[in-house]
Amino acid sequence: MSNPSLLILPGDGIGPEVMAEVRKVIDWFGTRGLTFDVSEDLVGGAAYDAHGTPLTDATMAKAQEVDAVLLGAVGGPKYDVLDFSVKPERGLLRLRKEMDLYANLRPAQCFDALADFSSLKKDVVAGLDIMIVRELTSGIYFGEPRGIIEEGNERVGINTQRYTESEIDRVARSAFELAMRRNKKLCSMEKANVMESGVLWREVVTEVGKDYPEVALSHMYADAGAMQLCRWPKQFDVIVTDNLFGDLLSDAAAMLTGSLGMLPSASLGAPMANGRPKALYEPVHGSAPDIAGQGKANPIACILSFAMALRYSFDQGDEATRVEKAVEKVLADGVRTADLLGEEGVTPVSTSEMGDAIVKALGASV
Ligand code: IPM
Ligand code: MG
Repeated sequence: MSNPSLLILPGDGIGPEVMAEVRKVIDWFGTRGLTFDVSEDLVGGAAYDAHGTPLTDATMAKAQEVDAVLLGAVGGPKYDVLDFSVKPERGLLRLRKEMDLYANLRPAQCFDALADFSSLKKDVVAGLDIMIVRELTSGIYFGEPRGIIEEGNERVGINTQRYTESEIDRVARSAFELAMRRNKKLCSMEKANVMESGVLWREVVTEVGKDYPEVALSHMYADAGAMQLCRWPKQFDVIVTDNLFGDLLSDAAAMLTGSLGMLPSASLGAPMANGRPKALYEPVHGSAPDIAGQGKANPIACILSFAMALRYSFDQGDEATRVEKAVEKVLADGVRTADLLGEEGVTPVSTSEMGDAIVKALGASV
């Protein structure tokens, strides 16, 4: 049997630095006989610099063929002046759309060792473990009509929130399936009080819920949901929501845990011929251009994204847990990158030292 294939797209800013640490983890698995066919390519600003487009057709085709894609981050101030159609973010959005990665899993988990880093009180966040399922290929991010048009003597900016029943149905099913594997609790968030797309969202999710009678389903307006996430996040287990609300709510949830530098994500589509879902894994954080190239970035989110790939694409749940435990161990030992500082007298380690510490902890785990 051939090795599972993985396409690595480091991207921009801190992307290449954190990806270098993931490579160490991948190499470690190689020494244990779990070998991946890894290829690497450009995305975002890096692809624009080389090819004048944030994602070439060749890279897109490669992404469609591999078992999983692992992406670092895209974007940076250097590209702010570019036309919208070639901005780095368009490369990522094209991958999501053309691979049809409709279910974006964003866990927000608070590591015990970091409970003090949250801007919320420790007892509010300690032990937090929630999962946001964000719809990723539709809604206002992609709806037509869109654009900036002339109307009378001024311009109008237009975007369209649009959801079909089948789009809501499939992401709701992903969320219910996850809820079944977790604590059988699902909260759906929309704005059914103001938006027709929200009314339909609520109806369809309720209908899908009939196939999952064991799951306790609740509904919340997304603004109230944001408030409840800050007030008492532990009331939630799985949250399912649309593309734009999911973008906002997942950033808020991420910050509850103390650092954006910790959180991975998985974007999953329909199963391929081999039964594996189409999949792209990426950290929730961005390209952090302000610290890029200085060895300050935290590689944990990207390493945990690879762990999610082990679990969801490669049927290696135990090895995924091994990586997560190694991260926990390193944090419990007090190893901190600069984003995690707060304690007196702790000197930060570099990106690469954090990667080495995690690989060492992996070694000690066998
Ligand atoms: C995210 C990001 C992206 C989004 C950007 C980079 C296009 O904020 O993954 O949350 O808005 O979806
Ligand atoms: Mg975002």
